[in-house]
Amino acid sequence: MGNLADKKILIGITGGIAAYKICELIRMFKRNGADVTVIPTENALNFVTKLTLQTLSQNNVYVNEFEIPDYKPEHIALSDSADIMVIAPATANTISKLANGICDNLLTSVACAFKKPVFIAPAMNTNMWDNPIIKENISKLKSLGYNIIEPESGFLACGTEGNGRLCELSKIYDAAEKELTQKKKLAGKKVLITSGGTIEEIDCVRYISNYSSGKMGYALANEAYESGAKVSLVTTKVVTDNRFNIINVKSAEDMLNAVKNNLEYQDIVFMAAAVADFKVKNQQTQKIKKSEKTDELTLTLVKNPDILKTICEIKKEKNLKTKIIGFCAESENLLNNAKEKISKKGCDYLIANDISRADIGFGSDDNEVTILYKNGTAETLEKASKSVIAKEIIGRITKDE
Ligand code: PMT
Repeated sequence: MGNLADKKILIGITGGIAAYKICELIRMFKRNGADVTVIPTENALNFVTKLTLQTLSQNNVYVNEFEIPDYKPEHIALSDSADIMVIAPATANTISKLANGICDNLLTSVACAFKKPVFIAPAMNTNMWDNPIIKENISKLKSLGYNIIEPESGFLACGTEGNGRLCELSKIYDAAEKELTQKKKLAGKKVLITSGGTIEEIDCVRYISNYSSGKMGYALANEAYESGAKVSLVTTKVVTDNRFNIINVKSAEDMLNAVKNNLEYQDIVFMAAAVADFKVKNQQTQKIKKSEKTDELTLTLVKNPDILKTICEIKKEKNLKTKIIGFCAESENLLNNAKEKISKKGCDYLIANDISRADIGFGSDDNEVTILYKNGTAETLEKASKSVIAKEIIGRITKDE
């Protein structure tokens, strides 16, 4: 058995002449022990037959979700089953559908539901490859974390020479093999992540909170899980994801207890939650009534516990090895405020977020952050999706392991 034994690969084939080359790619994966399932589009079957793909992959070939005898639904079952997905050749049409979430066939539906690494090897005519729409869709896919294996220059099926030819199969194979066989960075590690804005009750119907959506925390949880960690997500948001141990909390007080109770078992803690610095002093159990006598209501706020500072102190006292990563949300003087915070809180790294921009930070799908290291250096991670930023953060903090 080869080094890909136990690895499950989905291969999506779209309707381009390079489809015939994928027969050899299937053989390469099979020779090394992988379990390969092929999903061709209807158009791909103009270039290569279903029987060929079935024979080479030694598996059922799936084309249309409505033709599957034992309906599961198949696009979810297939996307849950594999370790990686390779789409080769990827036509301009399929690339554009993927970039825009269009799911009008089994391949695009599976790819849309697929949560693990996807490798896309485009192949098309040079003019199509150079079209700014396709360029934009490719860069959108890249920024969302899809792996694009660039096409090469050479003789094209349409009789011209130029860029757009499917890359060498060995490039696709090597990229997939590397992904499947690399030692996972966080294998055997336990990671706890806090996410969402805390909810500080005023009475039984009203509360004080903030704009944190929990997206950054979720992206970190997803990336930590994909890197092999056992993940606990302490969150104020409703999250249904059975890959994580989800601990639902509301207030800063609840969050402190949840983090403290789990701290000693963790190798890494990410404090991505936006914790309220203050809570209401006299929370009312009944709904506060409007008064006819006054137009004002005065709430007294008192300081909440500082969770990050508290756990950094516990770490010191108990000599724990846990790496603690704080986040900070700043609307001005990002770097200066962040520098002050890392020394005040005592964490190992601080991820500084600029919340004055609408396109990053609170609620958005993208982020741009600056990592502060304990030795005083700072590194800015350019704007990308929160999942790419999470990958980069985890890459940086596990660099020396
Ligand atoms: O959730 P999203 O919409 O995706 O947005 C992501 C984010 C912008 C909320 C996130 O990336 C972020 O910046 N989180 C930290 C927000 C925050 O509370 O920053 P802060 O500067 O107020 O606090 C600094 C650190 O101390 C944070 O790690 C915070 O969790 C922690 N803290 C703060 C107050 C407190 N009482 N206890 C704490 O532990």
